[in-house]
Amino acid sequence: MIEGKLVRLRALRAEDLDHHVRWRNDPEVVHWATGGDPLFGPVSREAVAGFHEARLRDNPRSETTFTVEELADGRAIGMADYRDLDPFTGQATVGITIGERDRWGGGYGSEALELLVGHLFGACRLRRVELETWSGNERAMRAFRRIGFIEEGRRRAAVRVGEAWYDSVLFGILHEEWTERRATDGVRACPADHGGVAGAWHALPQRGAGPRPRTPVLSARPAPAARSASDAAAPPAPAADRRRTP
Ligand SMILES: CC(C)(COP(=O)(O)OP(=O)(O)OC[C@H]1O[C@@H](n2cnc3c(N)ncnc32)[C@H](O)[C@@H]1OP(=O)(O)O)[C@@H](O)C(=O)NCCC(=O)NCCS
Repeated sequence: MIEGKLVRLRALRAEDLDHHVRWRNDPEVVHWATGGDPLFGPVSREAVAGFHEARLRDNPRSETTFTVEELADGRAIGMADYRDLDPFTGQATVGITIGERDRWGGGYGSEALELLVGHLFGACRLRRVELETWSGNERAMRAFRRIGFIEEGRRRAAVRVGEAWYDSVLFGILHEEWTERRATDGVRACPADHGGVAGAWHALPQRGAGPRPRTPVLSARPAPAARSASDAAAPPAPAADRRRTP
């Protein structure tokens, strides 16, 4: 459990499937998460269940999906995940979706992402964290910048929303930037910086040893590449905040 002031990140549970089906079929959530990809939904409960089931068995040494829970009442309001964790280079890709629309703009998403990144830099000792969104998602970009992510590049006109084209925007942050920013802001650099169980890179599996990269339940665009057997039953998965399989 990773706790902030507004939210906590807790382990994914079987009962989270209900929220995921709802969020995954909410056109507005899907619009922002995927850039309005018309091929993304609607999606059956069975299809989401297959994907969810696979996420419950994720190996946290390479990927994990957390549920974002509101501290005030324990309500599940979204999900945050990391994937493609590479222990050699010390980097991972993250994703964030606040699925409850009435919680948008309240600082919940920024804090959830901050907790996740703090966990990766702290407990997991990563060097670099990255994520991606589309240039029309001003709120997401502001949330990323607020935490200290730096825009690193754009794939121009890579996202189509109706008859308009947007850029896919890659953001990254290095451990030293994170630490320096938190020192300057007087914020804890790494909420989970306890060097505990997952504290050493060398304890992590080597490249290719873990489960293959996959797409989160709700982050953005369908994965063009082949997916694992467990993912094959999943809905065309989104991931605007992914670099390798946007
Ligand atoms: C993107 C998301 C994670 C942001 O989390 P959030 O809790 O809603 O946002 P926050 O309240 O933390 O605000 C983040 C920033 O956006 C700004 N913001 C809030 N609402 C906004 C809006 N409608 N338009 C533009 N900016 C907005 C805030 O002022 C803040 O910027 P600041 O720190 O410079 O003041 C969340 O809205 C979400 O999951 N949306 C749906 C799916 C999605 O877009 N996913 C991103 C996939 S890459």
